[in-house]
Amino acid sequence: MPETRSPFPAPVRDRTDYLRRYQRSIEDPEGFWAEQADHYLTWSRKWKTGLFHDFEQARFEWFRGGMLNAAYNCVDRHAEKHGEKVAYFWQGDRPNDTRTVTYADLLEESSRLATVLKAKHIGKGDRVVLYMPMIVELPIAMLACARIGAIHCVVFGEYGPMALANRLVECQAKALITADGRYRDGLVVPLKKYADQALKRVPDLTTVIVCRRVGLDLTLDPTREVWWDEAVAAISADPHQPPTLPPEQMDAEDPLFILFTSGTTGVPKGIVHTHGGYLLYAAMTTHIVFNVTPDDVFWCTADVGWITGHTYGVYGPLLNGLTSVIYEGTPDPPNADRYGTILQQYKVSTFYTTPTLVRALAKSGDAPLAPYDLSALKVLGTVGEALSSKTWNWLHRHLGRGICPIVNTYWQTETGGCVLTPLPGVGPLKPGVGTLPFFGIDPVILDDIGQEVTGPDQDGVLCIRTPWPGMARTIYGDHERFINAYFSQVPGLYFTADGARKDKDGYYRIIGRIDEVINSSGNRLGSAELEAALMLHPLVAEAAVVGPPHPIKGQGVYAFIILKKDAPQTEALKTELIKQVQAEIGPIASIDAIQWVDALPKTRSGKIMRHLLNRIAAGTYDGAPDLSVVSDPGVFDHLVTGHVDYLEP
Ligand code: WT7
Repeated sequence: MPETRSPFPAPVRDRTDYLRRYQRSIEDPEGFWAEQADHYLTWSRKWKTGLFHDFEQARFEWFRGGMLNAAYNCVDRHAEKHGEKVAYFWQGDRPNDTRTVTYADLLEESSRLATVLKAKHIGKGDRVVLYMPMIVELPIAMLACARIGAIHCVVFGEYGPMALANRLVECQAKALITADGRYRDGLVVPLKKYADQALKRVPDLTTVIVCRRVGLDLTLDPTREVWWDEAVAAISADPHQPPTLPPEQMDAEDPLFILFTSGTTGVPKGIVHTHGGYLLYAAMTTHIVFNVTPDDVFWCTADVGWITGHTYGVYGPLLNGLTSVIYEGTPDPPNADRYGTILQQYKVSTFYTTPTLVRALAKSGDAPLAPYDLSALKVLGTVGEALSSKTWNWLHRHLGRGICPIVNTYWQTETGGCVLTPLPGVGPLKPGVGTLPFFGIDPVILDDIGQEVTGPDQDGVLCIRTPWPGMARTIYGDHERFINAYFSQVPGLYFTADGARKDKDGYYRIIGRIDEVINSSGNRLGSAELEAALMLHPLVAEAAVVGPPHPIKGQGVYAFIILKKDAPQTEALKTELIKQVQAEIGPIASIDAIQWVDALPKTRSGKIMRHLLNRIAAGTYDGAPDLSVVSDPGVFDHLVTGHVDYLEP
């Protein structure tokens, strides 16, 4: 095993220190987290109850009665002390397009936008959907919402009209903040045009604010639409408006945001996170997992539209008063030179990315980053999918100079922040393994019948026994679904839906989802959502989408499709279907292969047998284990012979 102890002093010094603090966090969660809440956050009123929990009803409350504001904690308190400090270095799709935003700028701009929203009668508890490019206006809009207590709901800017419309409806949005368009590899994507299609489904939405990004000449609907810059200019010119809008004081348990994630059914789940617990968890994990100090420059490559971008692109770094990098360009295919330039130019010290991106960088040559000075790098992190030891080693050698610790962090939209992760000061780090629970997390692995596995290296499903501040509180508008999805499988535990195993040293390894969620290039896609998009085509009768292993993407996306009678099984139709799914959901929903079939294997109760389809897609099918449960065993032969290659680029 390589020497993987961090050469940099870390807040958790060593294994003994970790174990001592971990023990305390499990034995006395309320006391432990109360100390952290005092340390990491600024409160305007002390909480009454540290922790309330009821696993059966899935009710969890941290610091109820405590008052604070997320924007104040992220921006004002730093701007008061060092307004000139850079909050964001931003780089556009085109390299010469750059912007530097200080904490003072962030305060001014988010406060002004907050004033605009307030003037439009948007306030505490109202939902505001943000459908934006990766520009600084996105965190600014999040902070503006937080300032007035509105609940932001960021919809990934590469989603298409259908995905946006579903989310607008699902969260009952009162306002939408978007842009005229976004750049993608030099081309313009017309965001506002997509938004217009989606807005047809939400006639009651009162306000649309449009940021100018690509200079499209648009005519806005004067009854509810305004340009961002014009609205802000008008507010700034109004002598009755205070220069800085005082932040609304929020209860720790008030929702801060909703973020949609794919589940096992077609309707995405609106995961709700709070002002108090989420912020605390974001602040502390950023500090401890990434070993940050005030001079660090943090680059989380995830789009702000994902939870990783929320927690480690916006809230965590800002709460710690750090400088972050935001890059507008898309990571696929990654332009190694661009990554090298940004890492060097801004002296990035923490680089947090995905195994997919690392694999793709590794593919572009042995040492594509060799020409760059990466000596500022201190900690490397990955998230979203398994990190193989091969990729780990490449990252360690080529970016980490053989000395930077790599934190392979495991978590989910629902967990708010990292729950299983190595810590830089605590060795040894094992290539490819997720390692240890973060403070306050008590993991348990259960076998098929719900018993805790006893021996090492036994597979089971990962659950968590303790409540922690960053955990989701509900699914917006559907608490019953929240209970069913996460708390009904095993009473008293949070159910992750990930398979895992623990080795003899107590290190955890994540094996992958046990439900119907596909993790392709670190993007979480619901098979039901993909199938629904395919079914929109008039010639498609039925579709089943599975995720066989893929060397670059982690999982590929493979669709079995039954066409309507007499429809032609052509390559042109395949291309059309692939395009349709991308248009409906967005380019991340990229189907690698389509296989025409006449029938799908189903159980006698009519459920599609996805695990068998997955093996057929992967080419590892060697006979159905129990054909008695299959309604029509004969379908398998046709399926196997019709297999198509999904690995071809
Ligand atoms: C799913 C959550 C949380 C940020 C990224 C994605 C998978 C996450 C790891 C890891 C193996 C991982 C799990 C999880 N996952 N991190 N280190 N090793 N798998 O958030 O979209 O909510 O997806 O990503 O399957 O359940 P998300």
